[in-house]
Amino acid sequence: MNDRAQVTGLSHVAIATADADALATTLCEALGAVRDSEELLDSGALRVVFVKLGPVTFELLEPKDASHTVAKFLEKRGPGLHHVSLEVDDIVAALARAKDSGAQLIDAAPRRGAHATLVAFLHPKSFGGVLVELCQDASGRRPEP
Ligand code: CO
Repeated sequence: MNDRAQVTGLSHVAIATADADALATTLCEALGAVRDSEELLDSGALRVVFVKLGPVTFELLEPKDASHTVAKFLEKRGPGLHHVSLEVDDIVAALARAKDSGAQLIDAAPRRGAHATLVAFLHPKSFGGVLVELCQDASGRRPEP
C-alpha cells in the first residue's frame, strides 16, 4: 500500500446553490462563519465562494451557465450537498488506489481546481451516494492549519 495515497484531512464540503451570496450571509449570521475568497472556474461557468467555519471550509457552488453540471444538479435535485472533498498528498497515487480497488472514477486523471489545487472526482455509486473529491494542494503538501 502506498502511504502517499492516504487521505490526510477534510479539504471542504461543497454545497450547490443558486445564490451563493445569500447562503454565505446565512452561514455568517447563523454560525459565525467568515467569508473567504471566491473565484470563477470552468471558463466562468461556475462561481465558487469559500466560507470558513473554524477548521471547516464550505465551498459554495453557484452555476453561471445552464449547461454546467452543477446547474443540472440544481435542476434535478435542488440545492444541497454536492460533494465532500478529501485532502491527499499524492492525488495520482490516491486515484490509482481507488481505481485498483474497483471504485468507479469520474476523473481518470487529476485536473485543476480552485486555489490552483489538483482535484479528481470519484463516482457517488461507489461511495454511498456521496460524490467524493480528492484534492491535492498545489505544493503537494497539506496547507498549514
Ligand atoms: Co470541491
